[in-house]
Amino acid sequence: MRPVILAIESSCDETSASVIRNGKVLNNIIASQAVHQKYGGVVPELASRAHQQNIVAVVTEALQNSATRLTDLDAIAFTRGPGLMGSLLVGVSFAKGLGIGLNIPLIEVNHLEAHVLAHFIDDPVPTFPFLCLTVSGGHTQIVLVHDYLDMEVIGQTQDDAVGEAFDKAAKTMGLPYPGGPLIDKYAKLGDPKAFRFSETIMPGLDFSFSGIKTAFLYFIRDEKRKNPNFVEERLNDICASLQSHLVGMLLARVKQAVTQTGIRQIAIAGGVSANSGLRTSLKESGERNGWSIFIPEFQYCTDNAAMIAMAAHFKFQRKDFCSLETAPLARMPIGTR
Ligand code: KG4
Ligand code: ZN
Repeated sequence: MRPVILAIESSCDETSASVIRNGKVLNNIIASQAVHQKYGGVVPELASRAHQQNIVAVVTEALQNSATRLTDLDAIAFTRGPGLMGSLLVGVSFAKGLGIGLNIPLIEVNHLEAHVLAHFIDDPVPTFPFLCLTVSGGHTQIVLVHDYLDMEVIGQTQDDAVGEAFDKAAKTMGLPYPGGPLIDKYAKLGDPKAFRFSETIMPGLDFSFSGIKTAFLYFIRDEKRKNPNFVEERLNDICASLQSHLVGMLLARVKQAVTQTGIRQIAIAGGVSANSGLRTSLKESGERNGWSIFIPEFQYCTDNAAMIAMAAHFKFQRKDFCSLETAPLARMPIGTR
């Protein structure tokens, strides 16, 4: 059965490989990098070294686990960008070497388009057109998806990503990286109305999260002056209030995008789509407003090579191959329009 594609993802801190055969994803091998935990964020230099250490083992496992021989492969796909330059270079160079060795074509994939196309790995799949809220540590976008490889960004953050706001707020409270999942965990036990934060309103469908990051820092600093044990004593309430605020900002823009486009199919992608507050609010809004909501399996929400493989499958159908001179792009925008 054709085509058989090996896909490699190395844009940030996950080294991942996946094999897709005739449009069916066979596996999704991911090596996460624990090395960043103690630094409160991804350290680019350490990330590229860890990719270099992990990549052969991850690719070998993806091939063995799917009983795929190198000679079975029809193409090698890789994330071209956006992402950390040193991290991208490892995946791009590895893919090129393998492609030359096997004399098969290369397929470059846009990481953000791939997050959207993760929705086609398993049923139920959305129909076109649909809206996708892509929310991760590096990105916050509302994408209008016209077709598999035809999408436009209709709203995006003008500064920090929402995942970064979660992670930086967690760091301010002394929690380890990545703090998003921990805030989610403590928020389940707290009162979302305990504290209020101010919001920076951006024009159109754009977002801004740098204001809340700074406001949160000052809030914690001021409260700790009054009570040094403030964070420990009110952790659940602080997390619940912050999460409710951030989810509210995302939901408001989604509602606005629905009104503006008339599209009622909403998908979410990216690591923050694992957030239970966001999932619940989106499902509730969906039920109230008659929207269809699409949330991929968790392993396809965070960075993974299965989504790169899925995107590569669609590009293979168009014979959309790239040259051996293709270089990584740290800033690679979505957009065929
Ligand atoms: O998509 P992803 O794995 O990598 C990037 O491309 O950034 O997303 C990672 C981000 C981190 O900011 C992490 O804190 C956040 O997703 N995240 C969460 C949750 N799980 C992961 N944020 C809030 N709640 C969660 N449950
Ligand atoms: Zn990502």
